[in-house]
Amino acid sequence: MPIRHLASFVFGVSGAIFAVVVSLIAIAVVRFRSRKGEGEGRGDAGREPAQIYGSNRLETAWTVVPMLIVLVLALTGARVVQALQDPRRPAGALDVTIVGHQWWWEIRYPSLGIVTANELHVPVSDPRAASPTPTWLELTSADVVHSFWVPRLAGKTDLIPNRTNHAWIAPDAPGLYLGQCAEFCGTQHAKMLLRVYAHSREDFDRWVKAQSEPRPPSAMTPGRRVFESNGCVNCHALGGTIANGRYAPDLTHLMSRDTLASGIVPNTPANLRQWLQQPDAVKPGAHMPAMQLGDQDLDQLVAYLLTLQ
Ligand code: CUA
Repeated sequence: MPIRHLASFVFGVSGAIFAVVVSLIAIAVVRFRSRKGEGEGRGDAGREPAQIYGSNRLETAWTVVPMLIVLVLALTGARVVQALQDPRRPAGALDVTIVGHQWWWEIRYPSLGIVTANELHVPVSDPRAASPTPTWLELTSADVVHSFWVPRLAGKTDLIPNRTNHAWIAPDAPGLYLGQCAEFCGTQHAKMLLRVYAHSREDFDRWVKAQSEPRPPSAMTPGRRVFESNGCVNCHALGGTIANGRYAPDLTHLMSRDTLASGIVPNTPANLRQWLQQPDAVKPGAHMPAMQLGDQDLDQLVAYLLTLQ
C-alpha cells in the first residue's frame, strides 16, 4: 500500500512536469512558427529576436525548482523504504519460521507446534477487519543463501545462514500464491518452488487442527519397517517413529501436501514411487539418495507413506 501511494505521488509529480513542458513546447511551436514573408532571403538579421546572454534570475529558477522537486521525491521515497525495511511485528500476527535448504523450505509454526515443508498455510488478513491476522516470517538458512519470494505477497527477502531476517505477508483473499527461491543457491535453485495457501479463518483452524494431531505409533507394518531400517530416518522426521532428522522435510503429514520435491510434481502415488526409486529423475542433483530398494520394498514403503494423512 505505501508503495502504491508513493508510485501515484511520483507519477503525479512527473505527470505535472510533463504537462507543463509539453504545453510550453506547444505554445512555442504555435505562437512562434515562421509566417509567410518572414525571414525570407539572407541577411535578414534585423528580424531575429533579442538574444539574452545569461540571466541570474532564470538560471536560479531552473536550478532551484528541479532541485526542490528531486529533494521532495527522494525524501518521500526514503521514508517508504525505511518503513518497509524496518518492519515491526504486527500485534496478533501468526509466527512462522522458514529455513531455506538445498533445495526445499522448512516451515515451522513455533506457537502451534507444527512442522511442514514447501507449502506455507496462512490465514487471510483483512486490513479492514478489527484485528487483521498477518503472518510474521522469521527467515534463515541451513546452508547457503536463499531468497523468499512470493511476488503477489511480498518483495524478496534473503534467507542467510546464521542470521535471521524478517518479513510479513498479509494476503487479503483466499487462494494459492506461487513463489520461488530468488537467490542462486546451487544446481536445483530453479526447482526450489514455494506455495502459499491463504485460507479463511475457519479453513485455517481446520488445517492447524489436522497438522497438530500427534501421530500415534502405528503398527509395525512392512512399509514402516522398510522406512525405519533404511537411511530415511537419518534425514527425515516422522512422528510416532524413530525418525527425527532435520536435514530433509518432516513426513508426519506428508499426504496433506499437494506436491513433492518442493513443488516439482503433484503428490500422487506414481510420482511418490518414482521419487523414492530415482530422485534424480524427478529433480537432478537432489540431495535425496536413491535407496536401491527392490520392487516389493518400494511398494510397501509407498503404501506406508500413503497413510500419512
Ligand atoms: Cu534456494 Cu535458490
